[in-house]
Amino acid sequence: MEIKTIGVVGCGTMGGGIAQLCAQSGYKVVVSEVNAELLKRGLGVIDKNLARLVEKGKIPQAEKDAISGRLKGTTSMSDFSGCDLMIEAAIENIELKKKIFTELDSICPKHAILASNTSATSIMDIAMATKRPDKVLGMHFFNPAPVMKLLEIVKTIATGDETLKTCQDVGKVLGKTTVIAKDAPGFIVNRLWIPYILQSIKLFEDGVASREDIDNALNLGLNYPMGPLALADYTGLDVVMFIANTIYERLKDPRYIAPTLLEKMVAAGWLGRKTGKGFYDYPK
Ligand code: CAA
Repeated sequence: MEIKTIGVVGCGTMGGGIAQLCAQSGYKVVVSEVNAELLKRGLGVIDKNLARLVEKGKIPQAEKDAISGRLKGTTSMSDFSGCDLMIEAAIENIELKKKIFTELDSICPKHAILASNTSATSIMDIAMATKRPDKVLGMHFFNPAPVMKLLEIVKTIATGDETLKTCQDVGKVLGKTTVIAKDAPGFIVNRLWIPYILQSIKLFEDGVASREDIDNALNLGLNYPMGPLALADYTGLDVVMFIANTIYERLKDPRYIAPTLLEKMVAAGWLGRKTGKGFYDYPK
């Protein structure tokens, strides 16, 4: 199936990055936010990222204009009526996601594929909110979406072969390497990444080393682009805790229990870069 127009629900960090990536790759894109202010902010970030690419000489101004021309912002879900593929990147709340998928199911064309960028929510649960579970799957991108090379595709027991193949082809057009995971808790990446991040927080909580030394150790000792505490801040501590709790609820494996320090930081609203405070301070 040929995909021409992609809809993205949510224009925050992930949704905005995905929308930018899809428009840069030649797709027509409709991206939504819940209100005009958030939409303006999200489109502004995309515009700034594209302007940086022009400044660095990566793309000419004419290409930036063409990319922007392919990108339409909206606050109305009905604008998704012409989309061939939807990628939902709303906040991590299962009830909200189900509601969005039910709505998309009634708005989008019969042939449209409905994908979720969720980090941990069961795709099967989301699929059952629609009348087309064969056309529902996970398309899990990584932050920053225009840069990170992986697309993790999550296939449920009901996902159709053509749906899977179409999304693998879209992944290729987006310049990503795709991996396929079953709809199991944490899929591949978060199943392995979360215990590493939680253990790093625990190490810091236990006073084994300073935050800088923990980060430098992994950054320089293992050539990871960011140390775990800096990466947790970058991802958002609320997101890390949500993924950990979601996997723990389903597996009851103690490796996914959030450390007390993480719980307290989230309760304090110290969510990392987005709030200006996490394991490090980020002056605005
Ligand atoms: N949007 C678009 N482009 C961006 C960007 C953004 N938000 N942030 C960085 N870039 C681009 C830069 O423009 C730069 O491009 P060029 O090389 O073409 O000039 C390139 O990325 C590298 O950026 P910088 O030079 O500014 O900085 P860096 O070399 O330190 O790289 C980084 C930044 C790519 C974020 C790197 O530190 C990195 O890979 N960190 C790890 C990120 C990671 O692990 N992400 C996954 C998080 S988990 C997740 O997302 C999934 C989940 O379920 C929670």
